[in-house]
Amino acid sequence: MTTPENIHTEFHRMLGRGAKEAQLKQCGHVFWFYGLSGSGKSTLANALERKLAEQGFVTKILDGDNIRSGLNRDLGFSDADRLENIRRIAEVARLFLDAGIVVFTSFITPKRELRELVGEIVGAGDITPVYIDASFETCAERDVKGLYAKAASGGVKHFTGKDSSFEAPESGDPDWVISTDQQSEADSLKILLEKVLPIIQKA
Ligand code: ADX
Repeated sequence: MTTPENIHTEFHRMLGRGAKEAQLKQCGHVFWFYGLSGSGKSTLANALERKLAEQGFVTKILDGDNIRSGLNRDLGFSDADRLENIRRIAEVARLFLDAGIVVFTSFITPKRELRELVGEIVGAGDITPVYIDASFETCAERDVKGLYAKAASGGVKHFTGKDSSFEAPESGDPDWVISTDQQSEADSLKILLEKVLPIIQKA
């Protein structure tokens, strides 16, 4: 996308990310959690944030239902709206990253195309895609928000995994995979912590 006419960006005058990271004594990074509704994205992001806060890290969670009730309240679940949803959130994630903050997102991000766009906006080296893997059946059994039951009776349009598709990562993709239907929450958290810490610790 080109810079609109008569807009003169100010990025060059601002205190840079390096200075912010030095101040916070951490390396900013975006951990992009994606997966079906009910797969455990928000649960794990919240648990991880609390663990990292105990160690002094400054983090920010961007969560689907929260963002959709504020910044993105004008968007629904058509393919075009999901694209705009994810585009805006990736831009927001980048703003936090520029401030040296560790970001965890929690959005279904159902298509490869969307995940590729996120990588382009945030910048490949600054983002780790994390697939929170649980089958549609498991998520429907958990049905924390009652949406799977509602969708089954036709009450939710474009429901992911039912009438709107979800594309899992392919073997060979660098994405981390956390299988919440095969391990306990404590195990998932432990694995994530071990993988996240070396990335965000300042040398
Ligand atoms: S995304 O596809 O654009 O990435 P996002 O993560 O923001 O989706 O929003 C998903 C959340 O919205 C779900 O966790 C669920 O609570 C709610 N939701 C409401 N309608 C739908 C729907 N049709 N499909 C999926 N999730 C829905």
